[in-house]
Formats: sequence, C-alpha cells, structure tokens
Amino acid sequence: MRALQPDLRAVVEDAVWAPSIHNTQPWRFTLSGSRISLRADADRRLEVADPEGREMLVSCGAALFNLRLGLRAQGLEPQVTLLPDPDRPHLLADVEAVPGEDPDEYTRALHAQVRRRRSHRGGFRADPVLDPELARIRAEAEQEGARFIQAVDAHVKGALAALNNAAEHIQRRTPSYASEIARWAPAPGGRRTDGVQHGSYPRTTPWTDPHFSARDFARGRGWGADPVHTEEPPTAGVIVLLVTDTDRPADWLRAGQGLQRSLLRASQHGFAAAYHTQSLQIPGLRAFIRTHFCGDAWPQLLLRFGMPDTEVLTSVRRPLQDVLTEGP
Ligand SMILES: Cc1cc2nc3c(=O)[nH]c(=O)nc-3n(C[C@H](O)[C@H](O)[C@H](O)COP(=O)(O)O)c2cc1C
Repeated sequence: MRALQPDLRAVVEDAVWAPSIHNTQPWRFTLSGSRISLRADADRRLEVADPEGREMLVSCGAALFNLRLGLRAQGLEPQVTLLPDPDRPHLLADVEAVPGEDPDEYTRALHAQVRRRRSHRGGFRADPVLDPELARIRAEAEQEGARFIQAVDAHVKGALAALNNAAEHIQRRTPSYASEIARWAPAPGGRRTDGVQHGSYPRTTPWTDPHFSARDFARGRGWGADPVHTEEPPTAGVIVLLVTDTDRPADWLRAGQGLQRSLLRASQHGFAAAYHTQSLQIPGLRAFIRTHFCGDAWPQLLLRFGMPDTEVLTSVRRPLQDVLTEGP
C-alpha cells in the first residue's frame, strides 16, 4: 500500500491528453482535497453535429479513463461515482483518490502511451493488425462495458465506407455543419490551444480500398501536413464500430473509457486509430447502421485501426489553468 501522494494536478495534466471530438476538449476539472470532479463544458458541445452531447460525453469518458489510469500510475486507487447527481447532469464523475497498490507493469506501460497516442487521418501501412493484438485491443474496450464489432465482410466494409462518404458530402454542403467545422479547424499560424490544427491532418488523403472520406478541415485552402511517400499502397486498416448495449449518458461515458483504454493498448503495439463519426452524427444514418450492422446495439464510433503511414502528427491542449479549478 502506498501513502497518499497528492500530486493530483499531474493526473489532470494527463487527463487532458484524451482525444475529443474536433479537439473541443469539452471538460472541466475541480480538485478538492483527494477528490477530482469531472464536468462537461457544454459551451464546447457541437450544437449542430452533437446536439445531444453524446460525442461530448464520449470525449469526457476518454478523459475519465486517463484520470483513473493517472491515479493508478501514482499508486492511488480511483473510487469513481459516475453521474453522482441527477440534478446536475454536467457533473459526470466524482473520483476519490485513496491509497492503493504500486502500479504494475500493465499500468505503467499503458500510462506511458497517454501523451504518445495520436489520432490518425489517412491510410495505414500494409502490415496487418495481427489477431492476438487485435484481441487485446478489443478486450480493453470490453473491460469498460463497451465492445467492438469488426467489419470483416467486404460488402459490410464497403457499405460503411459509402455511408461515411454520403454523410461527409451532406455535411460539406450543409452550411451549419460546415461553419461548425470551420470554427474548430483554425488557420495555420494562430495561437489556439484547441481545435484540429493543420499539423494534425495530411494535406491530401491517400486513396484506400474501401475509401473513407476524411473531414474537410482544410476547406480547400491547401492546409495540412506534407504527405509521406510510401512504396506500397496504403490500406484502410481494420474497420470497427464501437458499440454499447444501451444509449444513455452513462453508456457514452463507458464508450469513451473503453475507447481510450483500447487506443492506449493499440498505441503500445505501434497502432493508431482513425475516426469517422460523420455517419453517426446524422440520426437516420445512425439508425440504419444500428439496425443493419450492430445487431441492435448502439454504434458510438466508427474507427479504423492500423500502423500509421505518416510521420507523427501534432496535437495541442489547453493549459491546466484553463480547465482546472482548485477548491479548499
Ligand atoms: C468522439 C470523437 C469523435 C471524433 N471524430 C473524428 C472524426 O470524425 N474525424 C477525425 O478526423 N477525428 C475525429 N476525432 C479525433 C479528434 O479530432 C482528436 O481526438 C483531436 O483532434 C485531438 O487529437 P489527438 O487525438 O491526436 O490528441 C474524434 C474524437 C472523438 C473522441
């Protein structure tokens, strides 16, 4: 057993390295004694693409997993109360840090990935994600109450790509979606510490079969990182839907925790994930995907896993003082 080492600010510093929709970082933390509270920052919710706040809570769930892992890495045990007060729906979790065990190898290895993990945008190298590694990545999500449904059949993969691409077309031609993307994809050279920066997506998206259109962050302005030349044609990677059995705020938080745990495990093996959430932001398409490809489970994210074919992309986060309030 370890004595309580109250370096809880460092734990919050880790938490913010979670992925979030358009890098909105829709979270706030309060530190009070040995308790960290996590709140959703509803001002950062995407009003057009995410009116219910589902993806906001998936993002906050990912940050919650980092909080728990960060505490374990310090020899503290996180006691989590999810959604502790029905009258305060934005209060997502109270996490009490109590003395725990020294971190084991598993915890240390996963924790080492927190700041290394990056979202990928584009194709993957031809090297496949091997079954044992994929099984480990899947198991991590299941430990958190979410699960992956892998698209294996070529027609299912093709259909998911087509639905993604249709959603991308719809969003590009709908002014409200397009202006929301513009708000969260700033021009190069600015000082923003949130949003999807031009160094975090390639200037051109390499073609894969099936092809999943990327989001239009550059909006025709030629922004983005230099493409990397590869000898072999890039692949789409392993295509999965992250699903939950029900679709309530607690499920969205579970999906986020499962997502982050899987992503960190994938990163440990040199893999990264690309996200395609366009089709799940359009209610009719989400319902279609649920009925046809999820056996009535609720799709939360469409992801591709693989070995990145590009240099490490960059990402930014807001400083601690912007997200953390310290109480008595
Ligand atoms: C719920 C959720 C949805 C996301 N959807 C997309 C997406 O549709 N397209 C995309 O390129 N990235 C997507 N992302 C990845 C974010 O843009 C990324 O996490 C953020 O820019 C921070 O970058 P990082 O993950 O490399 O730290 C999503 C992330 C989350 C958590």
